[in-house]
Amino acid sequence: MGDPREKIFREAAETLAARRNAVALTGAGVSVESGIPMFRGTQGMWEKYDPMEYATIGAFLRDPEKVWEMLSEMVEVLSRAVPNPAHFGLAEMGKRGLLRSIITQNVDGLHQAAGSQRVIEFHGSAGELICLSCWNRYSSREKIRDGIPPRCECGRILKPNLVLFGEQIPWKAQEDAESEAETCSVLLVIGTSAQVAPACDIPRLSKKKGAAIIEINPEETPLTRTITDLYIPENAGPAISRLLEGIRDFPPPS
Ligand code: OAD
Repeated sequence: MGDPREKIFREAAETLAARRNAVALTGAGVSVESGIPMFRGTQGMWEKYDPMEYATIGAFLRDPEKVWEMLSEMVEVLSRAVPNPAHFGLAEMGKRGLLRSIITQNVDGLHQAAGSQRVIEFHGSAGELICLSCWNRYSSREKIRDGIPPRCECGRILKPNLVLFGEQIPWKAQEDAESEAETCSVLLVIGTSAQVAPACDIPRLSKKKGAAIIEINPEETPLTRTITDLYIPENAGPAISRLLEGIRDFPPPS
């Protein structure tokens, strides 16, 4: 018996190779193979820390020291994480001219570490800290060495420059993401549960403009049976590596 997924991989590889104008939307699932826990599910961050208590801007303003209990665990995990085959595979797609940009909900910087050139950080970055009084910014790595919670020169506890619940998406990221989503001809949706707005609305923007939606996720999401065209029910690393292999069979259009 042949591999039942052969057909779907072949179709996805052919679509990517023929259209050559893909954008990826990534979520926590792409970094799972780097040892970073997801948010949802039994092993997820939100199982341990109630997001209403630990991940809203209101909670941070009320009690930043408490929110730093969760953040310090996140920062510790991120400091040890390195890119995995999913990140490297997407960077390779970029180099081969198949993938134009990545819109990521992740704050771990691993797409950039793997060599991807154009990465839109939709939920900001854990690599930077910001003071909500004087708007000074600092590198997380350096500031955290001085102790947790990290403080600004003015004495106030710093916030990572990532989006907490109740905060706006950085306007430039929102604008760039919409523009990429509306002008790509393939959207690769990888490792996101597609439950958090406005990121989960991005695939609809692409679909409306005629893009093909290819979804990679071992579990189905609200997108899978509604707007996804090709669903690959696998982990990101092996799926992206297999897609890259498959694309070799389709030479660039002349
Ligand atoms: P979630 O934790 O909600 O979902 C992760 C998804 O990854 C799930 O659908 C899993 O099935 C899938 N997954 C697990 N392992 C995988 C693997 N090896 N390869 C591919 N997929 C895999 O994470 P996000 O959808 O990214 O926001 O969550 C979105 C936002 O919710 C986050 O950015 C964060 C969170 O609250 C903020 O903090 C504002």
